[in-house]
Amino acid sequence: MQHHHPPPISTTTTTTGSAVTTPYILLATTLFFFLLVLSFTTSPSPPPPPIQPHPSLFPHHQRILFHNPNTTQNQDSPAATPPLPPTPPSVAYLISGSANDSDRILRLLYSIYHPRNQYLLNLDRSAPQADRDTLALRVQSVPVFRAAQNVHVIGKADYVLPTGPSSLSSTLHGASVLLRVTALWDWFINLSANDYPLVTQDDLLHILSYLPKDLNFVNHTSYIGWRESRKLKPIIVDPALYLLENSETFYATEKRQLPDAYRLFTGSSSAILSRKFVEFCILGTDNLPRTLLMYLSNTPASNLVYFPTILCNSRQFNRTTINHSLQYVSLDSRQEPHPLNSSTFDDLIQSGAAFATPFLPNDPVLDRIDREVLERNPGKPVPGGWCLGESENEKCSVWGDADVLKPGPGAKRLEKRLVELLSNETSRSRQCSTDHGIEPVDHQSLRRAVSRQHQRATS
Ligand SMILES: *[C@@H]1O[C@H](CO)[C@@H](O)[C@H](O)[C@H]1NC(C)=O
Ligand SMILES: *[C@@H]1O[C@H](CO)[C@@H](O)[C@H](O)[C@H]1NC(C)=O
Ligand SMILES: *[C@@H]1O[C@H](CO)[C@@H](O)[C@H](O)[C@H]1NC(C)=O
Ligand SMILES: *[C@@H]1O[C@H](CO)[C@@H](O)[C@H](O)[C@H]1NC(C)=O
Ligand SMILES: *[C@@H]1O[C@H](CO)[C@@H](O)[C@H](O)[C@H]1NC(C)=O
Ligand SMILES: *[C@@H]1O[C@H](CO)[C@@H](O)[C@H](O)[C@H]1NC(C)=O
Ligand SMILES: *[C@@H]1O[C@H](CO)[C@@H](O)[C@H](O)[C@H]1NC(C)=O
Ligand SMILES: *[C@@H]1O[C@H](CO)[C@@H](O)[C@H](O)[C@H]1NC(C)=O
Repeated sequence: MQHHHPPPISTTTTTTGSAVTTPYILLATTLFFFLLVLSFTTSPSPPPPPIQPHPSLFPHHQRILFHNPNTTQNQDSPAATPPLPPTPPSVAYLISGSANDSDRILRLLYSIYHPRNQYLLNLDRSAPQADRDTLALRVQSVPVFRAAQNVHVIGKADYVLPTGPSSLSSTLHGASVLLRVTALWDWFINLSANDYPLVTQDDLLHILSYLPKDLNFVNHTSYIGWRESRKLKPIIVDPALYLLENSETFYATEKRQLPDAYRLFTGSSSAILSRKFVEFCILGTDNLPRTLLMYLSNTPASNLVYFPTILCNSRQFNRTTINHSLQYVSLDSRQEPHPLNSSTFDDLIQSGAAFATPFLPNDPVLDRIDREVLERNPGKPVPGGWCLGESENEKCSVWGDADVLKPGPGAKRLEKRLVELLSNETSRSRQCSTDHGIEPVDHQSLRRAVSRQHQRATS
């Protein structure tokens, strides 16, 4: 039963509004002013005016806000008549890029677009301001983005070095803006212009709607070998944190001990994080998110450490973590990711992952993914259950109910992968630690819930 919490109710809007006393929120508010919120051009005074997205996309807006608990209650009783599918969740995406990435960011946006989700686009400071303005205008010229009011562009950017602390700071900035923009999302996903999806949003939202909303997906391990030590012990200074000019990171000759006040975990920079956890990192009263941030401000690869370490050192979250970020990455012998191309297409699809990285700009394999996996035409969103157009090329110019999902084969692949992850005895007992005998998330009933969607989707 615990697996079907109703989606977060809109009351969070008021909580963020009234909590403007803490300095942290003030900071978030200030950052929010810099945001070019395309949809509501009225005065940006907090709290933002209630958004009124287009009624054809959200005919059941009432249902989203005042969710009827009866629709999700009987999921676990097999005797009941087929219950209504749960209300789909929504995902907040942060998409980051730098100079010359505008086209890739737009392509990625189309490929992961769904009216229920939220999107925040961030071009870092190595891209000229003109690029940011043009990107905002291009986004604004797309009717469905305007109608659903869910694509936002950060108007003022900072420098970001790809793996340094500045990259972590940029991710946290994006997450805090997304928390301010709307209360209606359940998971946070951080993507870069190098990433691309391997399933449609209808597939992803469909599968996520059967999972408890407090699950976090991130690769993590407490094993710190020489390779990891080499990334954690050096002391660095990331100039992107304080200089206006872009310049190289510099390394101190001294090295330091690993911390013992908490246990370090390292993992992947990609993750699917629950809203509750993102709030804990940004608005929470526990101090670990801040202490760790300070510690990591001089650490290379801080973006690989931050989320896994907080998750695994917090009593509230150490049982909510699945040891996989659902992202496919192919590492070479030096543990560096190497670009994916057509020869990896079959592996990509068989992996059952939701995303893959890195791709080179306009690599032909992206066209193949568009054609064979997403069924997406160039310059158009992926046709989902909300697209009612008749003609092949204009499917998504007629809008229907955004709550209606049409999952395809991608949902089956994702389901299979999740069931594997959840049924793996080894990873079950080792969640967040190397200790045995811990009983983590109730994987059994989770697995049943995920499998049930299969029968429903095929019937
Ligand atoms: C839920 O179901 C119960 C019993 O079937 C009913 O009394 C109640 O009014 C329902 N609640 C809502 C919000 O529909
Ligand atoms: C962006 O593209 C321009 C022209 O194609 C090129 O001169 C420049 O080096 C590129 N910048 C980056 C950071 O790749
Ligand atoms: C997570 O998975 C990786 C790779 O399969 C493994 O090395 C690591 O030990 C796992 N983490 C935990 C906490 O079990
Ligand atoms: C996460 O771990 C799995 C193995 O458990 C591995 O296949 C995958 O490449 C890892 N992902 C990242 C982003 O490191
Ligand atoms: C967010 O994603 C970007 C692009 O993939 C990556 O460089 C960055 O490290 C990520 N941030 C965190 C905190 O994982
Ligand atoms: C989670 O935290 C609790 C309380 O701190 C602790 O007892 C438990 O061992 C932790 N579990 C894992 C898997 O680390
Ligand atoms: C794909 O990349 C691999 C290694 O990165 C390379 O060996 C192969 O030739 C590439 N294939 C194509 C079709 O470009
Ligand atoms: C289960 O997890 C272990 C260790 O994380 C890994 O070696 C094994 O391949 C996994 N099995 C499956 C079926 O994913």
